[in-house]
Amino acid sequence: MSKSCYILKMRILAIETSCDETAIAIADFSGTKNQPRVKVWANVVSSQVKLHARYGGVVPNLAKREHQKNLVPVLLKALEEAGLNPKVKTQKSKLQVKIKKIEEILQREDILLKRFKKEILKINPPEIGVIAVTVGPGLEPALWVGVNFAKALAHLWHKPLTPVNHMEGHIYSAFLQPPRHSELSEEFLRNSSPSFRMTSPVFPTLALLVSGGHTELVLVKDFGKYQIIGETLDDAAGECFDKAARLLGLPYPGGPEIAKLAEGVSYSVMASPAPEQIRYGARNDPTINITLPRPMLNSKDFNFSFSGLKTAVLYLLRDLEKQKIDVKKLCPAIAREFQDAVIEVLIKKTLAAAKEYKPKTIILGGGVAANKRLRKEFETAVKKNLLHVTYLLSPAFLTGDNALMITLAAFFTGKKKDWNEIKTEANLKLGK
Ligand code: KG4
Ligand code: ZN
Repeated sequence: MSKSCYILKMRILAIETSCDETAIAIADFSGTKNQPRVKVWANVVSSQVKLHARYGGVVPNLAKREHQKNLVPVLLKALEEAGLNPKVKTQKSKLQVKIKKIEEILQREDILLKRFKKEILKINPPEIGVIAVTVGPGLEPALWVGVNFAKALAHLWHKPLTPVNHMEGHIYSAFLQPPRHSELSEEFLRNSSPSFRMTSPVFPTLALLVSGGHTELVLVKDFGKYQIIGETLDDAAGECFDKAARLLGLPYPGGPEIAKLAEGVSYSVMASPAPEQIRYGARNDPTINITLPRPMLNSKDFNFSFSGLKTAVLYLLRDLEKQKIDVKKLCPAIAREFQDAVIEVLIKKTLAAAKEYKPKTIILGGGVAANKRLRKEFETAVKKNLLHVTYLLSPAFLTGDNALMITLAAFFTGKKKDWNEIKTEANLKLGK
């Protein structure tokens, strides 16, 4: 009997603080790894995005401070949603011994320590089997808050701890599929704590992961076995969306803003040529043709490069201004062309990789996978070009950072580790 046939049953509480979302989820897993069932009790995300928007991007130390403020209320909310209502302790005898160690663990997180002492020490340990925590990749100061919080909880409640790679979370979120006839949304989970089967992973799986910090094509050979077959050489796709949006005068995060702006503009993405240079029509031409490059579209490898695309937007705007063309009017068309350029490169590279590696399943995940146009074009391209390949999309509300995806990654690949040995790895890579 292979390892994955063992019947498993576990309740996982996961903590995610790799960037600007403070997130905690609680889920029960049962069945085997090949035929898992999951009951989602809580999936709480507290976003700091409005705060960072003022600075045009995530400020690591500000993120650290906000995580410290948010973790305790987010945990209490998750426990309440899960019906694990924290009961106040009556016995205080053993607590003094634990407090010393917790003060040591949270010595660099003074705001969190205060809240922890006030609100967490007094409650009884909830019925949780394992605590999972994101250890990387991400922003070092932000990651440490989550990891130290997880260590303090593991110590206080006597629970095992599992370190999780954030990118694994983006992969396994795609296996959580909507029950028939219903849309899997945040509200749906909150209102019904649903229990459902998950799609059984079939390997090899090819995952296109597109987020603010990463753009990777990952071959998943088995649970926890990865090979990165392509990645960005410079900016990630999400980062490029954010930078291009800034050039267009749009707020952070730029991805959804560009998508919104591009929505009303109609011309076909795949029909457009892929020139190396920007071309656009002469001044006063009512049909100004805005064309941006598709970087590395025809390179023989599966790597990406997006920083040139952002620079192309910069030059285009500069040239239009020089010619006294009303740039504001053209912003939707530029947004649309920019989005099309990113999508075309992502899809064509993924199809080329699929031809070479012949996966049985294709996955799209990460923050940029929220992009409706990308979701649609990607699905159409897979259905048309890769017969017999199962196509799995992360449910839209799980594309951005969340902790439910960390429970999923912990279930499929988690290994308990002595918490003294757990540390953050800002540049953690899959397959290493
Ligand atoms: O995975 P994620 O939430 O955080 C990281 O792990 O980086 O990804 C965030 C990124 C941001 O760059 C954001 O602009 C982008 O995902 N994003 C989008 C959309 N929604 C979020 N990009 C394009 N279209 C969207 N609709
Ligand atoms: Zn992410």
